[in-house]
Amino acid sequence: MASPDTTVPNISLIGDVQIPQLGFGVFQIPPEETTEVTLQAFQAGYRHIDTASAYQNEAQVGQGFRASGLDRDDVFITTKCFNDDHGYNQAKDAFKESLGRLDLEFIDLYLIHWPVPSQDKYVETWQSFIELQQEGLVRSIGVCVVFPKSVTPERIAENFDIFDFHLTDSEMDSIQALDAGERIGPDPDTFVRP
Ligand SMILES: NC(=O)c1ccc[n+]([C@@H]2O[C@H](COP(=O)([O-])OP(=O)(O)OC[C@H]3O[C@@H](n4cnc5c(N)ncnc54)[C@H](OP(=O)(O)O)[C@@H]3O)[C@@H](O)[C@H]2O)c1
Repeated sequence: MASPDTTVPNISLIGDVQIPQLGFGVFQIPPEETTEVTLQAFQAGYRHIDTASAYQNEAQVGQGFRASGLDRDDVFITTKCFNDDHGYNQAKDAFKESLGRLDLEFIDLYLIHWPVPSQDKYVETWQSFIELQQEGLVRSIGVCVVFPKSVTPERIAENFDIFDFHLTDSEMDSIQALDAGERIGPDPDTFVRP
């Protein structure tokens, strides 16, 4: 694949891992579309893909990466441990299943999808993450953040083209004022599974 002009800045994580600041999310992309959409994202210039075991499309993300022809060191793959995989052994097993579905030798970033304090297992889950990192199976570990998602080629490209403008303080204030303290999704303090 020809190398597009990738303008996404990197952010340094602990351990001198560089994460592309803009990633491409594949939540709610059906598995049968994910290989092609992931390939389109790479062609648009994204180098960071955000999947999760709960999205049920990790295998197709791996296939999209291989179809791109990009080097493993040139892409950043994030996946996540879901709520009912918390626990020391369960989290390790879940990680290895994700690694197998992606068909990769290591994951760049492994995240706790939701901390689920009602289960009170996130500390032992985190301990297993640390050990996976020490084994070299994952480069960086953390808790979730959000990336833009689209299955529409022109939107995939449009969403990548965001580094040529700045928001003013007043525009940022207007955006912050939209937060009315309301939710459209479940409360992370209590959510376990849909
Ligand atoms: N940690 C978590 O619990 C969590 C939760 C939610 C999301 N995430 C991550 O964040 C990613 C994004 O979140 P999200 O699914 O809420 O997606 P989103 O980016 O907020 O919105 C996706 C929707 O917006 C449309 N869209 C995308 N670009 C557009 C554009 N330029 N113009 C008009 N419409 C556009 C998409 O339509 P088309 O696809 O039809 O183009 C899709 O319907 C996910 O893929 C996932 O990786 C994580």
